[in-house]
Amino acid sequence: MREGQPTAVHREAYAAPAFCIDTVDLTFDLDPTKTRVLNKMRLHRNPDVAAQPLRLDGEDLNLARVLVNGGGTSFKMDGGQLVLENLPEGPEPFDLEIFTTCNPEKNTQLMGLYVSQGTFFTQCEAEGFRRITYFLDRPDVMASYTVTLRADKNKYPVLLSNGNLVEQGALDDGRHFAKWLDPHKKPCYLFALVAGQLVAREQRITSRSGTEHLLQVFVRPGDLDKTEHAMNSLMASVAWDEARFGLPLDLERFMIVATSDFNMGAMENKGLNIFNTKYVLANPATATDMDFGNIESVVGHEYFHNWTGNRITCRDWFQLSLKEGLTVFRDQEFSQDMAGVASARAVKRIEDVRVLRTVQFAEDAGPMAHPVRPDSYVEINNFYTVTIYEKGSEVVRMMQTLVATPEDSLGRAGFAKGMKLYFERHDGQAVTCDDFAQAIADANPGSALAQNLSTFKRWYSQAGTPRLQARGVYNAAERSYTLTLKQSCPATPDQASKLPFVIPVTLGLLNRDGQALPLQRAGTADSALQQTLVLTEASANFTFANIDSEPVPSLLRGFSAPVVLEDGLNANDLLILLAHDSDPFNQWEAGQRLMMQSAVQALTQDITGPVLSDELVTALRNVLRHPGLDAAFKDLALTLPSENYIADQLSVVDPQRVHALREAMRLQLATALQADWQWAWDAHKHNGAYSPDAQSSGRRALSGLAMGMLCIAAVQSGDDVTPGRVYQQFKDAGNMTDRVNALSALVVSGHALSHDALERFHKLFQHEALVIDKWFALQAGAPDRAGDVLPRVRQLMKHADFSLRNPNRARSLIFSYCSANPAGFHRTDAAGYVYWSEQVLALDAINPQVAARLARAMDRWSRLAEPYRSAAQVAIERVAAKADLSNDVREVISRALN
Ligand code: ARG
Ligand code: ZN
Repeated sequence: MREGQPTAVHREAYAAPAFCIDTVDLTFDLDPTKTRVLNKMRLHRNPDVAAQPLRLDGEDLNLARVLVNGGGTSFKMDGGQLVLENLPEGPEPFDLEIFTTCNPEKNTQLMGLYVSQGTFFTQCEAEGFRRITYFLDRPDVMASYTVTLRADKNKYPVLLSNGNLVEQGALDDGRHFAKWLDPHKKPCYLFALVAGQLVAREQRITSRSGTEHLLQVFVRPGDLDKTEHAMNSLMASVAWDEARFGLPLDLERFMIVATSDFNMGAMENKGLNIFNTKYVLANPATATDMDFGNIESVVGHEYFHNWTGNRITCRDWFQLSLKEGLTVFRDQEFSQDMAGVASARAVKRIEDVRVLRTVQFAEDAGPMAHPVRPDSYVEINNFYTVTIYEKGSEVVRMMQTLVATPEDSLGRAGFAKGMKLYFERHDGQAVTCDDFAQAIADANPGSALAQNLSTFKRWYSQAGTPRLQARGVYNAAERSYTLTLKQSCPATPDQASKLPFVIPVTLGLLNRDGQALPLQRAGTADSALQQTLVLTEASANFTFANIDSEPVPSLLRGFSAPVVLEDGLNANDLLILLAHDSDPFNQWEAGQRLMMQSAVQALTQDITGPVLSDELVTALRNVLRHPGLDAAFKDLALTLPSENYIADQLSVVDPQRVHALREAMRLQLATALQADWQWAWDAHKHNGAYSPDAQSSGRRALSGLAMGMLCIAAVQSGDDVTPGRVYQQFKDAGNMTDRVNALSALVVSGHALSHDALERFHKLFQHEALVIDKWFALQAGAPDRAGDVLPRVRQLMKHADFSLRNPNRARSLIFSYCSANPAGFHRTDAAGYVYWSEQVLALDAINPQVAARLARAMDRWSRLAEPYRSAAQVAIERVAAKADLSNDVREVISRALN
C-alpha cells in the first residue's frame, strides 16, 4: 500500500497464471479482533506457462504457518507477496495449507473482512480477498470453494457464505458452525461471508423451467418492514432475465444482505450479494421515489451480474467494463421495461443520459479520462468509474443499435442472439471485451457492427467524448436534403490524436409545421419516419430525396451515441422540436439546448435583463400545460441544466457567475410561470396510498418542482402564505417523497420556516440512518446566500450523528458540499478548498477508496477562473505534499497536477 512509489499495471503485460487453484477449503474462526483463517488449497502448475515460483498476494495479514502436502516448506516474503520456490515439480496437483490471522475490527478501509455494527461482512472486489488470506488474487483464477464458519452463537446466530448450506451445528463454549459449498467455480473477488444478528424476508419462487429457489433478503432486526420493495425487485429481476435473455437463476438459494458500512453501492458475490443499506431498505415513510427506483436498478444490476460477471468473468481488471458496462446496460433496460409505456421508458432514458453527460463527459474532459478498457492503472479501485460503467453501457447499447434489421428495428433480437453465442462460447471462462464484441458481431453477420467491428472497437480503446458536427443543405430544385456529418475527438491525457469512431445517428426530419417527413435515402426505395445512419469515417454525406421544403433535422434520437452533437440549429428550429418532436428524448433535449444557449450567451456576452426569451418561456409553459405529456417528462423538461453541466460548456469557469446566472433563470421561470406552477401543484397533488410506480412518482416529481418554484417566487415577493402551505405539506406528508420535496423547497428558497422544518425532520427520523443522511445532504447542498454553507458544514461535522468512518455519512455531508454545491464550495476566500484538502487527508487515513473519490471533486480545477484556479492548485499541492498518501489518492492527485 504505502510502500515507496506507486507503480502502474499495464494491460499489455498480461500473462496467464503460472498455477491453477482447483479447490479452496476455508475455515474461519470469527473474532472481531483476531479472526483465524485456515486456507487449504489444491493447486497444479499451469501446463501452458514456464515453471516459476508461486507468488501469492497478501495484505495486512499475520502469517502463522505454511504447509505443502502436509509438511513444512521454505518461503520468503517479497513486497507483500508470499513466495514459494520449492514446490513439487511436474503436473500433479499438490496441497497447500496457509494459516493466517487478521483484525476485522481495525479494518476501516472496508476491504476484505470487516465489522459493521457488530456484524462481519466481506468486500473482495477488486483486490480485497488478499486481505483475508494469501491467494492468487486475480479474476482469471477460478476455483471451487468450501467454507466453514465458526463463531459465538449468541453474537453471530446467522452464518452465511456462497452457495448451499451443507452442514451446521453446535460447538463447545457457546460457539456454532455452518459449512457452505458453492457448486460454481469462481474467482476470489466473488467470495463472501456474513456473520451476525440478522433476520430475513424469504420468498420461494418457481422459475419458468420449473425449478424451485429460495430468495432471502437479510437485514438487522427492526428493518424487515423495509425489505418488501427489494424482494419485489429481486423477483422481477429473476423473471426479466429469463424472459428477455433466456438466462435463469442457477442457484437453489439467492441471498441479499444489507450493511450500513459499504464503500460502493452493492456487490454481486455468487449467491450472496452484499448491499449498501441505501440500495435495499425502503418504505414509503423513509424512502423517496428516487430511492425506490435506485433499489430496483441496483438489485437488478447485482442479480444480472450472476450471468454477466459471474458465469463469464473478466480475464483481468482492464476488462472491467466487460461485466460492468454490459450489466449497467442490462439494468437500464430492465428499469425501462419495468417503467412500462413508451413515455415512461423515455423518462428513464433521459435520466440515464443526464448522468452520462454531466458526470462521464466531465470525466472524459478531465485529468482522469481513460478508455472504457484502460491501458494502465495504479489503483484499480480508482477505475470503478462512470466511464467503465455508464459509457461502457452506451457502447453495448450502440452494438444493439448496430445489429438492427428492418424486422428488428431496435436490434433487440439480434443482440439477444449475440448474448446467446457469447454464453455458448465462454460460459465458465474469464474473457476480454474483444471476446464479447466478437460474439455479438459473429451472431449478426452482415450487420453494421460485423462490417465495422475493428473500427467500432475504438470505443473501447480511445478515451474522450467525440464531437459530431452536422450540417444540412436543402436543394429546392432537386427536392433533396443533404446532411453532412463530421467527427473529431479532443485529445485526452495519454492520447493526443484519435481515429474516427463508428457513430450510429438515429434521425428524423420534421417540416416547419412539426410534421414528420418520410425519409427516403437517394437511390433507395424504402422510406420510414426514422432511420439510423452509421458514420464510420471522419466525415460523410447522406442525401434524402422527395423533400418538399427545408426540414428541421432531429438528430441523435434517443441519444443513439455518446457524443457531443453540434448541429447548428437555431432557436426557431429548436422551438419546433420542443413543440413537435415525436422522439421524447429530442423533445426534452431541444428545451435543454434552448436553456443552455440562453445561459451561455448571457455568460459570455454579458447580456443583462431576462435570460430566457419570451418565446422560450411560452414554449415551456406549453409543455407544462400540455394535456398529452406525462408529469415525469414535464418535470425533466422544466428543470434547468445543472450548474456543473453549464460550467462544462465554458472554457473558463467562474462558478459564482454560473450560480448567479442559473438562479436568475430559475427566478425568471418561477415568476413568469407562477400561475402555471400553482396549477401544476394543485393538479398533481395526490393523497391516496403510496405506490412507487412511474406514473405516480412522476406526479410527485412535478408537484415537487412546482412547489419549489412557488416558494422561490414567494420569497422574492415577500409572500408567506405559500411557504406556509408548503410547511403544512411537510408536516402532513404521507410519504418521504412529498415530505422531502416540501423541506427542500423551503431550504432552497431560503425561507425562514426551513430552520424549524429541518429541526422537526431530524427529530422525527433520528433513528433512521438513511433519512439522517438526507438531512445532512440537504444542508450541505443548500444555496449559499451569505457564505454560510461552509460554516454550517463545519458545524455539522461536530454533530453527534456525524461520523467520518461511515461512508454514507461522509458522502452525505462532505461530498454533497464539495461536489454538489459549486457555489458554496468555490469561495473567493479559498476556504472551501482548504476544507476539501483537510477532509481528503483525514479520510485517507481511514479509507483510501472513499478519500480518492473525494479527491476527484477537484478534477476540473484547471479551467477555473482566477482567483479560484490558483487557490485550487495550492490546495491540491497541499494534499500532494503529504508523504504517506495512499496509492488511491496519490494517483488521483498526481493526475490532477499533470
Ligand atoms: N461489482 C460491484 C458492482 O456491481 C462494484 C464493486 C466495486 N467495489 C470496489 N471496492 N471497487 O458494480
Ligand atoms: Zn456491477
